[in-house]
Amino acid sequence: MIKSAQQKSAQYKPISIKILQVEDVSEECIKWYSNKEVTRYSDNQYRSFSVEDQKNYVRSCLDNNDVDLYGIFFKSKHIGNIVISGLTSVHKRAEIAYFIGDTNCWGKGYGSYALAEIIKKAKTHYKLFKLYAGLAEGNKGSEAVLRKNGFTLEGRRKNHLFYSGKWCDQLDFGLIIQ
Ligand SMILES: CC(C)(COP(=O)(O)OP(=O)(O)OC[C@H]1O[C@@H](n2cnc3c(N)ncnc32)[C@H](O)[C@@H]1OP(=O)(O)O)[C@@H](O)C(=O)NCCC(=O)NCCS
Repeated sequence: MIKSAQQKSAQYKPISIKILQVEDVSEECIKWYSNKEVTRYSDNQYRSFSVEDQKNYVRSCLDNNDVDLYGIFFKSKHIGNIVISGLTSVHKRAEIAYFIGDTNCWGKGYGSYALAEIIKKAKTHYKLFKLYAGLAEGNKGSEAVLRKNGFTLEGRRKNHLFYSGKWCDQLDFGLIIQ
């Protein structure tokens, strides 16, 4: 599964991921968070965002050895983020979370490709043993991205999340890195 997502990489050459820098934060990024489609399955629906706050967040990630925040870029256009956290864990496992903020870019394989890139880094750069991610039941796009990259369902937390006015289960996915 991992291989098949990565084998398609030639098709997604315009997509790259790189550690996000303070100067990458723009008004455009802030607009992502006011789009209910983007925040529907995330705690971001309860937060307010400003350019300054986002710059501070990026700075805090740059200063934190435990977290790396990557921007997802289409050519030079910033279209989303993918964050890996828990990098200093003695268990050699880290959590990932991601989103494509520019909804015009959804459904083109970019989310799957960005995740495949992080998996490569988890193996070769971070030397991790495992990656994991939690998602709200019903988030079909996110589930598909994980499954396409070889993640499997490890557990379900009942009524663990309150999103868009209702309780939903959290599905916990994991990938043992080979
Ligand atoms: C989840 C998300 C990252 C998916 O990114 P993407 O670039 O659109 O995903 P891909 O194009 O790589 O799609 C992968 C597969 O999922 C499918 N898919 C994508 N969105 C879907 C949806 N809403 N419903 C059903 N299937 C969906 C695609 O058809 C594709 O399947 P295929 O390979 O069989 O054709 C993006 O929709 C997003 O950012 N959503 C909002 C934030 C979010 O939910 N983040 C995850 C929190 S856990």
